[in-house]
Amino acid sequence: MRLDKFLVSTGKISRSDAGRAARGGKITVNGIVEKHADRHIDPDTDIITLHGERIVYRRYTYILLNKPAGYVSATEDGREATVLTLLPEELQRIGLFPCGRLDKYTLGLMLPTNDGDLSHRLLSPRHHVEKRYAYTCKLPLLPEYIEMLEVGVELEDGYLTKPARMIAEPQSTSGIIVLTEGKYHQIKWMFEAVGNKILSLERVTFGPLTLDPTLDRGEWRYLTDEEVAALQSGVKGVDEP
Ligand code: URA
Repeated sequence: MRLDKFLVSTGKISRSDAGRAARGGKITVNGIVEKHADRHIDPDTDIITLHGERIVYRRYTYILLNKPAGYVSATEDGREATVLTLLPEELQRIGLFPCGRLDKYTLGLMLPTNDGDLSHRLLSPRHHVEKRYAYTCKLPLLPEYIEMLEVGVELEDGYLTKPARMIAEPQSTSGIIVLTEGKYHQIKWMFEAVGNKILSLERVTFGPLTLDPTLDRGEWRYLTDEEVAALQSGVKGVDEP
């Protein structure tokens, strides 16, 4: 892989700045200054530094973000701030996109990544990846409505939802709803379908991932290798159509 391509893929630098940094003697390969940004390196074995900082190669990047209210789940939006703007600039240059959408006022666990294949698998209904949402709603949920949500309800557009799991006391106005699918505004419309209204929503788990309590709203961290492996092992072995 070319040295400049490697550096650009980490989000640390643009291609033209990589050339400039190399000519200025700011890059080393295995301890030796490298002035040619087009030189080939092995990202798995060569040790690269930029401005004295060791640059670790990540084929793909996986991020756990605690989404605050007011951000849209898109890569670009002409009018609204996207969740990607919560990340440092260097991470906004490496093709990240949110794996699955949350509404503008929904909070909690988001997974920006640039691994399209894993994202596709995690979102595919075939893999039944569970997502848990903590909700509050306007009216106490009667037992028959809890049951309806568990069996499946018809949304405004005629879509029949798959069975959801409800962790909710009868007559309460808060609880957890567990889904394995994610239609646009799904929970909002499911509650409308039983004559209720969602007041707040927070995603607290996504497959094996749990919202990290050490992250404040708007904060993020890289997934650990164990978390990435757990995501991958949960969605392997089922053929795509
Ligand atoms: N369902 C919704 O209605 N909104 C979300 O953000 C996620 C699921």
